[in-house]
Amino acid sequence: MKNILITGGAGYKGVLLTAELLKLGHKVTILDNFMYGYDSILYLIQDPNLSINKVDIRNLKQNDVSGFDVIYHLAGISGMPACASNPHSAESINVDSVRLLVSLMSDDQLLINASTTSMYGFSTVICNEESIIEPVSIYGKTKLVSENIVQSRANSISLRFATVFGVSPKMRHDLMVNDFAYKAIVDRSLILFAGDTKRTFIHINDAIRAYIFALYNSDTMKGGVYNVGSNNMNLSKKDIATNIAQYVKFELIESNLPDYDKRDFEISFDKINKIGFTTKYTLDEGIRELIKVYSYHIQYIPYKII
Ligand SMILES: NC(=O)c1ccc[n+]([C@@H]2O[C@H](COP(=O)([O-])OP(=O)(O)OC[C@H]3O[C@@H](n4cnc5c(N)ncnc54)[C@H](O)[C@@H]3O)[C@@H](O)[C@H]2O)c1
Repeated sequence: MKNILITGGAGYKGVLLTAELLKLGHKVTILDNFMYGYDSILYLIQDPNLSINKVDIRNLKQNDVSGFDVIYHLAGISGMPACASNPHSAESINVDSVRLLVSLMSDDQLLINASTTSMYGFSTVICNEESIIEPVSIYGKTKLVSENIVQSRANSISLRFATVFGVSPKMRHDLMVNDFAYKAIVDRSLILFAGDTKRTFIHINDAIRAYIFALYNSDTMKGGVYNVGSNNMNLSKKDIATNIAQYVKFELIESNLPDYDKRDFEISFDKINKIGFTTKYTLDEGIRELIKVYSYHIQYIPYKII
């Protein structure tokens, strides 16, 4: 049994990671400022191995960090729009707090960091962990700086996740697949900007599997940065919309206007595949799960959704 701290443990990924680590028999402390409330974690409260520490990560103290074998760092301002509208918070939470966290950790504590493929920005060649990175958003820029801070210590692993999709007790409706599914079902229309631009995607269950994989393979992985996703989930926005259209009837409007989000890239996941991590969950599975959730928002279903 390990004593594990998860910053951002009440978030979209954090709550499912907490649940999985508890299921595996570990002691888990969630450190979060609960800016989205407590609801996401209520179903875990009865577990005696769960502790809660309501702290803003900008005010971390030694006591918040000491005594843990492993720290998963997930707390942050996540995504391009949230960072663009709060650039100061993005800098202080995504960068300064990571510097503070690292300064409070001892060398024997393992740090597993939630990084992102969003930092690859725009590229015409397939990107891997060795590629030169030029982020196109404040989000990507802050995550790159914080990843460098994390990787300045030897006992750290950074996982550069593809854009996650799927259902969690703390939903994120802004993530692309989730957002498209919501609009298709509830608005019955979707305006597609820059539909041919590519991103890379991962089911939330696979993201959690990758966090667990890093814990159990830390001797091999520490000191390293890993893209987390799968080579067959480098998809265009139009691919995502077309996939949803298999299940839901909606109007797809293709706009010639540019997207504010300039990301366009393909990513190689060979490095993590080679050490034994492969994804298991498909885009279709995620979409079918999202449809079950978002159908709740419509009173009257004029056609069969699935
Ligand atoms: N979801 C994705 O597609 C994705 C992809 C790549 C990387 N990531 C990274 O994974 C991490 C988790 O993402 P998520 O999707 O679960 O996001 P989320 O926004 O759902 O979760 C973030 C959590 O951090 C907490 N938090 C925010 N500011 C805080 C502060 N100042 N002090 C303490 N807690 C604070 C929030 O309350 C929330 O519980 C983020 O670092 C994100 O950059 C996410």
